[in-house]
Amino acid sequence: MSISKKLFGKMPSGQDVYCWTITDGDMSADIIEYGATLRSLIVPDKNGKATDVVLGYDTVEEYMTNDGYIGATVGRFANRIRVGKFSLNGKEYSLACNDGPNHLHGGDVGYDKIVWDIKEENGELACYLTSPDGDEGYPGTLEMKVTYALKDGGLSIHYEATSDKDTIFNPTNHSYFNLDGEGKINDQYLLINADEFTPNDADCLPTGEVLSVKGTSMDFNEFHTIAERADMDEYVKPYGGYDVNFLLNGKSPACEVYSDKNGIVMQVETTEPGVQLYTGNGTSDRNGKNGAKYGWRSAFCLETQHYPDCINHPEWPSCVLKAGEKFDSTTVYKFKTK
Ligand code: BGC
Repeated sequence: MSISKKLFGKMPSGQDVYCWTITDGDMSADIIEYGATLRSLIVPDKNGKATDVVLGYDTVEEYMTNDGYIGATVGRFANRIRVGKFSLNGKEYSLACNDGPNHLHGGDVGYDKIVWDIKEENGELACYLTSPDGDEGYPGTLEMKVTYALKDGGLSIHYEATSDKDTIFNPTNHSYFNLDGEGKINDQYLLINADEFTPNDADCLPTGEVLSVKGTSMDFNEFHTIAERADMDEYVKPYGGYDVNFLLNGKSPACEVYSDKNGIVMQVETTEPGVQLYTGNGTSDRNGKNGAKYGWRSAFCLETQHYPDCINHPEWPSCVLKAGEKFDSTTVYKFKTK
């Protein structure tokens, strides 16, 4: 694996933003310091053609002004927290509410909007961030590290963190994948090893129920195209497609996607209990990198994470990170062709 960097752009303050490239054989990944954002992920298709399977932009300005968290590292808590409120150790906390009345993806200035400190360590790319006590309302100073590495035909993303006070923590990567490298993702085939999901209310927050996927648009235990049932029932219709959390059942891989146009197969493995499938339902028309045009259904996200709003559902896996304890979580996106 080799690592290099070049200047990508500047923040309004004049601060440099570098783009780091990691290469391993015929795979490469670009990560920019703004948001520790995965900007490109190049893999060979079945004919050996280099294909960039994630969306991204050409400039820092576009990353700063466009919505959608494209490619970013998201935290302190990915996904939504109802009205931004939770209690921990008997104390009530109020977070920044940036999605109507609710908290989404870390608040007004989440980790996607911070310039991270990135360096090469042992042939891998180590991204560091210190999130201060009270950041967007979260308790505790959090020291976080995200390590990107290309190995065994996959991109591994390793999350580590400690906090000096009890806090909540639920990071994810918000990459938008399109295995064809362009066009719509409607005909790409998806499998998710999940027997249950958490249905949403009108604000796209879990109602608290855990339902079986059987007989619903959520059953991806066998391959279905992404669009096939994206308007089938009340779990997808109001949201313009999928925007929902699945309870992973531990089978491997957690998710698999393939394109029968170019044969690219992506497998997702994770230590996380859930995955949010988001089919770019809210992606407005915009310019992407290298002259690309993006819009509705240009890409899908498979955001591995703890369940949305889990801090307000004590029966679900806990997102509490205790003072002095170490958070450790890994997600790998593996590629092959068929
Ligand atoms: C959420 C969507 C949201 C999107 C972009 C996804 O993770 O589930 O509801 O629109 O991020 O912000």
